Amino acid sequence: MEYHNLKPFPDGFLWGASTSAYQVEGANREDGKGPSVQDVKKVPEGTSELDVCADHYHRYQEDIALMAEMGFKEYRFSIAWTRILPQGVGEVNPKGIAFYSDLIDTCLQYGIEPFVTIFHFDLPAALAEKGGWSRRESVDEFVNYCRILFENYGDRVKYWLTINEQNMLTLVGEAIGTARLRKDVSRLKQLYQDNHHMLLAQAKVMQLLHEMVPGAKIGPAPNISLVYPKTCKPADVLAAQNFNAIRNWLYLDMAVWGYYNPLVWAWLEENNALPDILPGDMEIMKAARPDFIAFNYYSTSTVEASDGTEKDRGDRFGQGGRVGVPGQYALTKNGSLPLTQFGWEIDPEGFRATLREVYSRYHLPMMITENGLGAYDRLEPDGSVHDDYRIAYLRDHIAQMRLAINDGCEVMGYSPWSAIDLISTHEGMVKRYGFIFVNRDESDLKDMKRYRKDSFFWYKKVIASKGEDLD
Ligand code: BG6
Repeated sequence: MEYHNLKPFPDGFLWGASTSAYQVEGANREDGKGPSVQDVKKVPEGTSELDVCADHYHRYQEDIALMAEMGFKEYRFSIAWTRILPQGVGEVNPKGIAFYSDLIDTCLQYGIEPFVTIFHFDLPAALAEKGGWSRRESVDEFVNYCRILFENYGDRVKYWLTINEQNMLTLVGEAIGTARLRKDVSRLKQLYQDNHHMLLAQAKVMQLLHEMVPGAKIGPAPNISLVYPKTCKPADVLAAQNFNAIRNWLYLDMAVWGYYNPLVWAWLEENNALPDILPGDMEIMKAARPDFIAFNYYSTSTVEASDGTEKDRGDRFGQGGRVGVPGQYALTKNGSLPLTQFGWEIDPEGFRATLREVYSRYHLPMMITENGLGAYDRLEPDGSVHDDYRIAYLRDHIAQMRLAINDGCEVMGYSPWSAIDLISTHEGMVKRYGFIFVNRDESDLKDMKRYRKDSFFWYKKVIASKGEDLD
């Protein structure tokens, strides 16, 4: 659809950006924080440890002042479960409570809405040792943690996100450093049992927030991107439907409608991997309802029909999968899309297509909680960083988001990844996403000084013009 007169971004549109605790904070052994699975994992060869990161824990005031200078209306950050409950359950750590309380207050002082992710890849190590999400108890452990957050911050935080990228935890947990496979059940059975517990925990927590903090809003935050068929051959179209169901719709069908996506159910059944569901679980899922759908979008995926020979070779094929699933789909390159320096496809029109599809399936307001470009940025001697490639990526995505709004999609805000440079999930500090450059490299912490990249000044202009001026 083409438009001659574009509607503006809606009033109150939440412009901002995102981070996550274990990637940005550092101080991972300070002030009573317990270890998370991220702190105890072995980082990939040659990449930074997660002990200092961007040192946001000590410098958040300076960082939030810079976000305010860009004109942020919201800041999406995550709370580290192990700062609040060092062992995941039991004793509450007052210093952890105080840290996020101060961070929230700092945002509010600048008129920045805190947009809080409750859980972003950093399960307490003590719980992981016991079996993590594979245990039924994990549901109540998560609810207990959330109750503490709602009690302490519910008076100031209006927007909550349950679990960051639950679909990636299920699809590529090994790459994120969260998967711990048991020997007594098949990999598939365990992953989808863990997934069931997370879905149930999420449903309970959405209800809990609505009871405890009337008016506050909560939603899931998966990584959603449309899956294309490689060709118009019917077998490729069916493969795309399979992967769309496995990658995307399972998570949203459950969060919004409380039922298992039938294609995924049939696939799990065929493989003896159906999760154990206790009486009452599905009623809880059905009764819960999110206020919005948040999702992260980096690029689309493309698949073709499986010839039944795909093997899980353990390597990652873009975001969201490995080689494919025999009998379901085979991942393949799109072929018509440019790539980032790190080999990720760039597809702004796919962003519009994804927004349209999510809205027409679920009819809920959408919040974009991640979108961005990882690159090797260079700090010039005069303190500038010329990241025109990032500006181009963000500009094209914002333009497509505006078209999607004109298509009738309801979009609440845009929170790209990342507000400031931080450590990538598995590709270290050199893969930078931020508007703010942090002067350190993989192992040399240098002076950790903050510098404004060209994208900083550009995004400031975008926000000031309410998305009108993208040049
Ligand atoms: C998302 C995650 O998957 O993508 C972030 O929520 C992550 O935690 C981001 O950092 C970019 O991925 P990567 O692997 O380049 O850091």
